[in-house]
Amino acid sequence: MTADVNRQWRVARYPKKEEVISPDHFDWTSEAIPEPEDGQFLVRTICLAPVPAQRGYLEKSHNSFLDNIDIGDVMRGRGVGQIVSSRHPDYAVGDIFVGSLGWQDYSIQHPRGAEFVFSTKKVKNPISPLSTELSILGQAGATAYFGLLEVGQMKAGENVLLSAAAGGVGSAAGQIARIKGAGKVVGITGSDKKCKWLVDELGYDEVINYKTENVGERIAELFPDGIDIFFDNVGGDILNEALANLAMHARIVICGFIATDYSPGPHSGPINYQFIVYKRARIEGFVVFDYWDRYEEAEQDLLGWYREGLLKNAEDEDDGLERMPESLGSLFTGGNTGVKICRVSPDPEIFIDD
Ligand SMILES: NC(=O)c1ccc[n+]([C@@H]2O[C@H](COP(=O)([O-])OP(=O)(O)OC[C@H]3O[C@@H](n4cnc5c(N)ncnc54)[C@H](OP(=O)(O)O)[C@@H]3O)[C@@H](O)[C@H]2O)c1
Repeated sequence: MTADVNRQWRVARYPKKEEVISPDHFDWTSEAIPEPEDGQFLVRTICLAPVPAQRGYLEKSHNSFLDNIDIGDVMRGRGVGQIVSSRHPDYAVGDIFVGSLGWQDYSIQHPRGAEFVFSTKKVKNPISPLSTELSILGQAGATAYFGLLEVGQMKAGENVLLSAAAGGVGSAAGQIARIKGAGKVVGITGSDKKCKWLVDELGYDEVINYKTENVGERIAELFPDGIDIFFDNVGGDILNEALANLAMHARIVICGFIATDYSPGPHSGPINYQFIVYKRARIEGFVVFDYWDRYEEAEQDLLGWYREGLLKNAEDEDDGLERMPESLGSLFTGGNTGVKICRVSPDPEIFIDD
């Protein structure tokens, strides 16, 4: 439901390493809906997408790719919204807008070009549901696309292993591997239910439950000829086990490290790095924001695959801006299947007859 005030989550204190993000780390406040000045427009938030990196913004000394957020500031977060008043000639009331809206009902925006966070965009041909702009056509889809095809240089016939395979990026990357003709696609995730979903719904060939199975043994069993591409979202022990099972000229795509970056540790490894030498492998990290100028290339393919029914838009929706702290916290306890979305207000009526 849209509020007649601007409700906001402001940062109250930074979490300790061992703490799960909760409403205790934020203040729930409200203020008058702001008015745009010349060159600005007001956006009403429709959906927000919590992502693991947001936890990194809540650490004073975090060595991240974005600055941390000061105590008292509105929590940063990417979302999709609709322009409800405008004093910018190129942005009209009713336009759909994607950008850093923050954890709030309304935000003042202006066009930012490539200056900021995976930039901002007016959505030219919005499709229903609008959350798609945050999931398969948004950061999750683009990260999967550029990580697998550009950094990983995946070729048809290659065998692919993915960690956090049932999460937002992982669920998209596994499907893209399938679409691009991968040999075997194997996903690692943390529950039997997610394992079943990966095979039944997303077309993974095999799965590993890292909480109940011996990951190293299972990887060795499923990849007798070695892994060609390891798309890693978690780091730590899983990365270490993958390194011991590489094919010649393997590529290890370092997308994330949720297993080690936000928990107190101590964390082991990776100690199997000698296999990078033995197997002439390449290990490379990337940040999707660096591919913003090529976003349309990804969007064209992702949208095409989505429309053809080859790429499913896997979303896991929570309801209400009030839920944002728990929604973010759930990413660290495996509480999402697909891209976590938090709905703030309904999609506008332009889609009702779709
Ligand atoms: N490089 C980039 O540009 C870029 C862009 C976007 C995201 N990322 C990174 O990519 C990763 C995935 O992001 P996302 O937004 O799609 O999140 P996500 O995968 O939807 O959510 C995180 C998932 O990670 C798994 N997980 C949590 N703690 C874990 C642990 N200790 N060990 C193993 N698995 C764990 C959980 O699934 P299970 O049930 O399977 O445990 C959880 O659902 C994150 O590391 C994120 O920081 C990087």
